[in-house]
Amino acid sequence: MKSKLFLVALMAITIGSFVAPYSASAKHDRSKKSQRAESEVVFSYNIPSVKIYSAAVADTTRLFVVSDTHLWVSDQREEPYRSYSKRMAAAYNKTTHYATGAPTTPEKEFRATIALAKKQKADAIVLLGDMVSYPSERGVEIVQEVMNSANIPWYYTCGNHDWHYEGMEGDRLTLRKTWRDKRLLPLFSGKNPDGYVVDVNGVQLLILDTSTYDVLPEQLALTKRVIASGKPFILLMHIPLYSPGRRVSYGIGNPNWGADGDTGYKIERRERWPAEGHTPTDYEFYEAVTSAPNLLASFSGHVHTNGVDIINGKPHFTVEANARGGYYEVLILPLPEPSKNK
Ligand SMILES: [Fe+2]
Repeated sequence: MKSKLFLVALMAITIGSFVAPYSASAKHDRSKKSQRAESEVVFSYNIPSVKIYSAAVADTTRLFVVSDTHLWVSDQREEPYRSYSKRMAAAYNKTTHYATGAPTTPEKEFRATIALAKKQKADAIVLLGDMVSYPSERGVEIVQEVMNSANIPWYYTCGNHDWHYEGMEGDRLTLRKTWRDKRLLPLFSGKNPDGYVVDVNGVQLLILDTSTYDVLPEQLALTKRVIASGKPFILLMHIPLYSPGRRVSYGIGNPNWGADGDTGYKIERRERWPAEGHTPTDYEFYEAVTSAPNLLASFSGHVHTNGVDIINGKPHFTVEANARGGYYEVLILPLPEPSKNK
């Protein structure tokens, strides 16, 4: 029975998976565990299930990744801000489930997703931003209430809508700091909102706020420390990394990002993206992450679409909006030894 299960596991990897290339040393003798490349990542992708196998991982870890719930609820405390939140308060009132097409709502999907994570005994839940459509106090309270009721460690980073009141004066860095401090801090549970690292069963979760489309020098420095540690890590953030071929005009490190490609600044009533595009820090971050041997994968939101891009053999996932029922259940597993029959 045991060998049957093992075969099924191997078939799942070799038939139903995208397989990253093995290193040269692993090709010469894959039967010796010591020669399995620790940078090797094998994964399967069967929405909403993601499985990531690595020789650098000793234990099995189950994560739930949730993004873009876009809760729009607010109460009388929102009155002074209605002129800034009016459009987004009407944007996601009713949604359709991405898989079934059934009518639903962001709050219903959020509660169902977190209940499922609890049922599945997830080791951690990571929220990748746009949990609210604007920084409504009631919306933030609902996120807290639902997450705390699950009794599972949970972690949060901002999306661009979490701190954005449309039409409010100010540049994106200032507005993010203002509304993070005023409304969103409870969701960070004392962590540094710019970025932080948590260890879950030996896997480092590097959780960064990329909601301004930029990476700060301090965030790059934190990333370099995680890479230098040599421990396996997963990068989690709102705005994804640039991926050549993805049909969007943004992504950290996108050489074409900037004012000319910004089609949303008028309707969102915000500062236009900078004419000069990304900073040297953004490009350095992109290079560091995409060449990191200890990177297992990245997960991002913002695009409201399920997808995976392979960059230098590593998978970079985007997740469908939780407002439409999207989430990933991610299993991180030790890489099985190759079959002795081959
Ligand atoms: Fe969103």
